[in-house]
Formats: sequence, C-alpha cells, structure tokens
Amino acid sequence: MNNKIIKVLSPATVANVACGFDVLGFALNDINDELVMRIIPKRGVTIINKDDFNLPVEPKQNVIGISLLALLEEIEDEIGFEVKSTKHIRPGSGIGSSAASAAGAVFGANHLLNNRFTNDDLIRFAMQGEELASGAKHADNIAPCIYGGFTLIRSNDPLDIIPIPAPFLYVTIIHPQIEIKTSDARSVLKRQVLLADAVKQWGNVGGLIAGLMKNDYELISRSLVDNIVEPIRSILIPCFDEVKSKSLAAGALGGGISGSGPSMFMISKDQKMALEIEKIAKKVYEKIGLPCHTYVTNLNKRGVQIQEMNELIQNENALL
Ligand code: HSE
Repeated sequence: MNNKIIKVLSPATVANVACGFDVLGFALNDINDELVMRIIPKRGVTIINKDDFNLPVEPKQNVIGISLLALLEEIEDEIGFEVKSTKHIRPGSGIGSSAASAAGAVFGANHLLNNRFTNDDLIRFAMQGEELASGAKHADNIAPCIYGGFTLIRSNDPLDIIPIPAPFLYVTIIHPQIEIKTSDARSVLKRQVLLADAVKQWGNVGGLIAGLMKNDYELISRSLVDNIVEPIRSILIPCFDEVKSKSLAAGALGGGISGSGPSMFMISKDQKMALEIEKIAKKVYEKIGLPCHTYVTNLNKRGVQIQEMNELIQNENALL
C-alpha cells in the first residue's frame, strides 16, 4: 500500500460560457479547493472537513465521498481513502464548487493509485458527485477542472471530451453574495426551445470554439451570447443586466452567468480591462448595498495539481 500523503489543488471553473449550456467550461487560476489525501487500509471513504461550510461527512451524502466510492467500485484492492477538505470555493457560488471537490478527490486518488485510470474515467466518477449536488450528471465543470483550459463536452453519454486550445484571457468573476442552488437554477429552465433560438445558439457555440482556436478575439466576443438560458436565469441575479451592459460598454469581450450563478464572468483581453470591470461591478452592488466578492484572474491551463508531502512526516496534522 502506498503511504504517500498528497495535497491536491483543485481549481474553480466557469461552466456554460454563455452559449454552451452543459457543453462548455474553462478552469480559473488562483481560486482552488485544497484536499489532503492518503490511502487507508480499509474500504470506504473518511472525510474530514477543515472549513466552516459544515458539509456532510457521510460519504454517500458528500460529493467527494460518492465520487471516490464510484472509483473504489472499479478496483479490487482492500483500501479506502482519507480526505481532509479545505474549501475556498463557496458552495452555491456558481464557480464549480462541487466539481472542484469531486474532481480533485478522484484525481488525487488516481495519483495515489499510480494513475490506473484515464482522465475520462475520472470524469465519469466525479459526475456522480455532480448528480448528488445538482440532480444532473453534467461534466462542464469537472472536465475543465481535470484537463485545465477550455473543454467541450461533445457528448455526456458516451463521454466525449475535447480540450480546446485557447488564447491567454483574463477573467473577472463577480459574486454577489446570494446563494443559488444548481438544482433550483436547472428547475426553472424550459424543457423545449424554439428552433430559431437553437439555430442562433449552435451558431454561437461553433463561433466561440472557432474563435478560441484561431485566437480571434472579435469572433470570441460576437459568440459570447446566450439566447436560451441567460434570459431565464438572469432574473435570479440582482443587477445582472446592469453589470453586463456596463462591462460590455467598458470593453469586455463578453460574459454572462458563470455556471448556474449567482456569479457572473466577464472575459477581457488584458488585465487592465479585467480590473476596470471589477470596479464597475463593485460600484453597482455598493449602490444597492449587496456585498459582492470579486476575483480578477486568468485562464488556468493546467487543471488539478498535486503536491506530494514528505513521506517521512508521520504527523500530517502538522502540515495543515
Ligand atoms: N451546466 C450546469 C448548469 C453548470 O448550468 O446547470 C452548473 O455549474
């Protein structure tokens, strides 16, 4: 049995990316959850929370637990995992909190197992966590979390993930301090869409992918439009239209709701613009007295990262 202790840094992600509901996502730098993991000599998962979110520690009720149980089902070894979780990504914020936990845990477990599984296997396991968190097995946060960069989920079943090369982009994340559960934000959506709206939407998805691959910022900008989901979900986010229209007027390439919200993302070509948009958003929320957290960061091209702890250190508590 491997007695390594590892630290996993699992990044926040932006899913949907305006036009790509459930099929597009990208990873963010600077915002990570941390998991300290090791193998234990009995089957099962032990979860220890090192933050104040009070998430359940019963493995079947925790996205880390359920994803690791799915992985354990596919190995015969009499082992399990202990996970100490420190979340910095607030649950219900819209930047892939549950995906960071689920994807980080299975990625870390795979490292401890000397990489027995492929990335797509790991995505399959972590999708169990997403189902627990939101009622739907969407992979648009998990895939970029694991692969880094932009990813296209061409198909969920069978899984078909395509990493998309992208230029360097700056991102402003604007998180008004309300909570929106992904399950609620999914339940308000219409089951059917008009053909005319669908035509515009798949034009934009194709345009966004082409723009990213050609480093064509104008095309990226024209394609960051969502005719189907944003008009419905944006009603749940105070001042969404004002923040978006002021950001676009100031020079953002585009943006929209991050995942199922309430966070918004705005993409810029340079850091100066991304910082300008942060100021604009803060001013809007100050005016209505709603606290708002912001991040200015950029595209994370590496995905989940592992740091190996010194195997000789016996008391891992001293490391936390
Ligand atoms: N595609 C998912 C949704 C992402 O919008 O419901 C949730 O983060």
